[in-house]
Amino acid sequence: MSKHRVSRRQFLNYTLTGVGGFMAAGMLMPMVRFAIDPVLKAEAGGDFIATKLKVADITNEPTRVDFSYEQVDAWYTSEVTNSAWVYKNEAGEIVALSPVCKHLGCVVNWNGSENDPNMFYCPCHGGLYEKSGKNVPGTPPTAPLDSYPTQEKDGILYLGTPEPNKFVK
Ligand code: FES
Repeated sequence: MSKHRVSRRQFLNYTLTGVGGFMAAGMLMPMVRFAIDPVLKAEAGGDFIATKLKVADITNEPTRVDFSYEQVDAWYTSEVTNSAWVYKNEAGEIVALSPVCKHLGCVVNWNGSENDPNMFYCPCHGGLYEKSGKNVPGTPPTAPLDSYPTQEKDGILYLGTPEPNKFVK
């Protein structure tokens, strides 16, 4: 039989250290996960959302496309609806523009003003954008409309997260 015996003091030390460490890990893990979760998501490359638009149906005329997806915030799931103005440009590229005005966030419409044909018009303060999404100088917006990254899967248009407009040089 071993002569090494654990004293009462050692036993309490081991037990309290073990329990304390376990509790600390339980509290720290959610905090660490919360802190690094956005980084992990960014590395995953972002999600593309399916629209109901067939790529073959996209014309040169900007068309409004509404699409929705489920958004999970902690334990709460909600249905989010977004929209995009989609067309093919002269180079044959698919352009999908965010409708959110870069002035104060109203929603723009293609051919929304009779006086300014073939432009995106923001009714809130008269903002104007060219077909590419470039803001017209002299109107309130100071930046082009954002554009969605696009993907085609099985003939259907998928849209990513809006980013600075890559079609405006
Ligand atoms: S919000 Fe669009 S012009 Fe002001």
